[in-house]
Amino acid sequence: MSDVSVFNKLGGAPAVDAAVDIFYRKVLSDDRISHFFDSTDMEEQHNKQKAFLTMAFGGPNNYNGKDMREAHKHMQLTDTHFGAVAEALVSTLEELNVPKEDIDSVVEIALSVKDDVLNV
Ligand code: HEM
Repeated sequence: MSDVSVFNKLGGAPAVDAAVDIFYRKVLSDDRISHFFDSTDMEEQHNKQKAFLTMAFGGPNNYNGKDMREAHKHMQLTDTHFGAVAEALVSTLEELNVPKEDIDSVVEIALSVKDDVLNV
């Protein structure tokens, strides 16, 4: 990653807020994955994702949720599920006109937790 974090490049906390909101709308309208969130408190989840993405984008570290392996352990997630979430993330960033190289950095960060999320 360059000297300027993806977090700053995206526009800091307000941009992450906007990204998470759009991202979740996409996830919840995707039949491949929406059912995983049937009993999730989405407000709470938004806040966790904001904190997590802030950290993942290289911003101030205030994420203190469960680790990724622990959080997703009971869901038996597959490549398809992970791919659907990654697609939602990429199309969110495209919608926000984030440059391709920055989207690539974010995808790289997402892929770095893939094995933990899938518990492999
Ligand atoms: C880059 C990939 C992913 C990241 C960064 C991520 C991040 C997170 C975070 C931060 C939490 C909250 C953990 C906590 O409770 O403290 C969480 C929970 C959760 N994630 Fe993910 N996740 C990813 C992939 C996925 C995938 C592929 C699915 C399913 C399609 C998924 C479904 C869920 C669900 C259902 C919860 C629990 C919500 C609840 O508490 O009800 N996640 N995830």
